[in-house]
Amino acid sequence: MKKILVTDLIPKSTLKLLRKHFEVDINTSGQDLSRDEILSSFNNYDGILSMFSNKIDKEVIDTLSNVKIIANYAVGYNNIDVNYAKEKGIAISNTPDVLSDTTAETAWALLITVARRIVEADKYLRDGKWQKFSFDFMAGQDIHNKTLGIVGAGRIGKKFAQKSVGYNMKILYYNRKRDIDFENEYDAEYVDLNTLMANSDFVSVHVPLTSSTHHLINYDNMSLMKNNAILINTSRGAVIKEEALVKILKEKKIFGAGLDVYENEPLVPIDLIKMDNVVLLPHIGSSSTETRTAMADLAARNIISVLNGGEPLTGV
Ligand code: GLV
Ligand code: GLV
Repeated sequence: MKKILVTDLIPKSTLKLLRKHFEVDINTSGQDLSRDEILSSFNNYDGILSMFSNKIDKEVIDTLSNVKIIANYAVGYNNIDVNYAKEKGIAISNTPDVLSDTTAETAWALLITVARRIVEADKYLRDGKWQKFSFDFMAGQDIHNKTLGIVGAGRIGKKFAQKSVGYNMKILYYNRKRDIDFENEYDAEYVDLNTLMANSDFVSVHVPLTSSTHHLINYDNMSLMKNNAILINTSRGAVIKEEALVKILKEKKIFGAGLDVYENEPLVPIDLIKMDNVVLLPHIGSSSTETRTAMADLAARNIISVLNGGEPLTGV
């Protein structure tokens, strides 16, 4: 029987599915596998179901001669040197589509929460500070009739746009290439990044992390943002230069930010933690029970397909 390593806990039903086909080892320690464990153990298996926190670079890939597929339990795969793995004949898969709605919902949750100061207001009440009505008490910003800037109109960015429909918003988007169907569907306008940053009330980032999107959002383009602007990131932390975002927020150049991802997870800059106008989530963008199960099943089905001699279903 072929052998699979699952590098962290996954839903029981998916584990059961894998165990029908393979001998399965799973890391149940509650800790990420260490570098040494990855280097010494991966090649004992025919397939790996990996997490985005597992760094699978050239050094790791050089240890692999048995492994046929690495199925990442994530849509993002910046943790894997995909080109090098493919050169070595290892298939790589991710989990696209099944998490697009859920991740777009997380971006919306952050947007609404920051704009209407929901977390700050909740904390105020729980701290026992609520005394009386006042006209400007916890006054936030409307969302309807505003301009939404979407950086990266791929699968998740499009779902984010779709969910804005009831809010009657103007949509600007920046993408590697124009998407006429998207423009027609949402009356969206294709603009360059600086134009988007300067004209949007809310900017939401939905690009994958690659060498060309690393620090795409920097001090210079954030400086163009409106005073009332809110920046949302549910993609990867390093798409935004975090240090520059801290500076922009400290200088009160924008209204606030909503973040699910950080440059050095799980470390979050203490400056951000101290700010009331910033809502911080611990990388839970795709974390609904339904979606995390669908992602795990898709990763498992990729492994089953490849180890039965087929192609990955969602190869990258
Ligand atoms: C999570 O961040 C993912 O890439 O799916
Ligand atoms: C607020 O609660 C109002 O009645 O306007």
